[in-house]
Amino acid sequence: MKRTPGEWNLPPGLPRALPFYAMKPWVKLGEPIRLFEYLHRTYGSIAHYRFMGTPIIFVNDPELIREILVTQASAFVKERTVRRMKILLGEGLITSDDPIHIRQRRIVAPAFHRQRIAAYADEIVASAHRHAASWKQGEAIDISAAMMSLSLEIVARTLFDTEVSKDILAINDEVNTIMDLYNFLIAFPRMERVLHLPIPGVMKFRRSRARLDKVVNRLIGEHRETNMDKGDLLSMLIRSRDEQAETGTSIVMSDEQVRDEALTIFLAGYETTANALAWTWYLLSQNPEAEATLFQEIDEVLGTGENGRLPTLVDYPALRYTEQVFAESMRIYPPAWAMGRMSTQPITLGPYRIPPGAHFFMSQYMISRTPEYYPDPLRFDPDRFTPEAKAARPRFAYFPFGAGSRQCIGESFAWMEGVLAIATIAQRWRMQYLGSTPPVPQAKITLRPRDPVMMKLIER
Ligand code: HEM
Repeated sequence: MKRTPGEWNLPPGLPRALPFYAMKPWVKLGEPIRLFEYLHRTYGSIAHYRFMGTPIIFVNDPELIREILVTQASAFVKERTVRRMKILLGEGLITSDDPIHIRQRRIVAPAFHRQRIAAYADEIVASAHRHAASWKQGEAIDISAAMMSLSLEIVARTLFDTEVSKDILAINDEVNTIMDLYNFLIAFPRMERVLHLPIPGVMKFRRSRARLDKVVNRLIGEHRETNMDKGDLLSMLIRSRDEQAETGTSIVMSDEQVRDEALTIFLAGYETTANALAWTWYLLSQNPEAEATLFQEIDEVLGTGENGRLPTLVDYPALRYTEQVFAESMRIYPPAWAMGRMSTQPITLGPYRIPPGAHFFMSQYMISRTPEYYPDPLRFDPDRFTPEAKAARPRFAYFPFGAGSRQCIGESFAWMEGVLAIATIAQRWRMQYLGSTPPVPQAKITLRPRDPVMMKLIER
């Protein structure tokens, strides 16, 4: 059915196209949160603006977010900036659309089943313990870098069954380079088509991406050589590709797809959790009461002094407050700070009718700082995540892991990693923030601290 423009009824918003407002303080390249804040402040929980003829809808209402991510999910695909991430991630789970997405998700899912994840608990604790044991009393460390190294080690050992060699550690440098270039890469029109040109930023990106490919290809090569199903994620991907080829299944995963999938999960799996942990240590250092309650829980569950022991999977359910701390940290500093979709059909959202091809943004950062759902939103209070407090809020006032068919596949893994890593480290260390002003969050692919977050380590 053909529709005429008069049939659309967009939410309130900027009367002119975005470039008209280029000089306003709330329009700044690479800082979309400023624009989200302005739209929310000025127009309320659903607003729109236009860019290059495309309507862009910003939604900050839990029920409407549910409509987009769950109820009407089949009327949406990922929006342009996510698709642009294909220059880094290829056709992996994050960037692909159906039918590739649904098939890949089925292949990868067993690596994230509850039982499987449970088997990773000891590895997580051992890695956190190794890191904590290497620290010295009174030493100042960049907690952000330390958590990157920890989380990288955990993903490498659990999902890729590999030792943390020099080239694995170098992944972090490449990702830092790419994050620095991110705004430039996203803003560049038709980036996909200029990737081969000798533009300095593009060349730097190409070099970093080639180095990442090399590491992942080496891992794939080693797994193939041993020809053993080690039961890890990479074995699963390789087996599935080979089995499909043998049985002549119509859509066979290419070698390149195995690589894209492995790289996607590697990057999605460590950067996010590392940032969440780094922000958690900062928040704890600023909130002695919450820190004391956390220490008390850990001491009660794991014992102290001579009788103290490292956590295991069995302790996980008892570490309730620790989980609340991690949840509250991801509320104030959600590692995935916004999500985008594009409509493929006419959409009805509340009283509004929105055409196909419109873009929709929902921001975890914005919703979790909205006073209606979180009074005094900047106050760190893990009791906002008791079961009663959670039940009193709309479900979609908190969605750090997304929702619906594209919900984070690593969510249970991330919760377990977060809780066990916090418990293992906090059993031994408290941290004192050495900066004179709070760390500045930067909205890149993830919400990262802009500068090193220096912490003094104090043995408990
Ligand atoms: C605190 C940690 C994490 C956060 C906040 C987080 C957040 C998210 C979010 C918001 C999405 C949905 C994106 C969208 O729908 O547009 C997502 C998807 C995804 N995440 Fe996570 N994630 C975390 C940890 C992990 C871990 C540990 C892994 C794997 C080891 C992982 C792998 C993935 C993958 C593969 C997808 C794509 C799923 C799909 O589209 O089917 N994430 N994540």
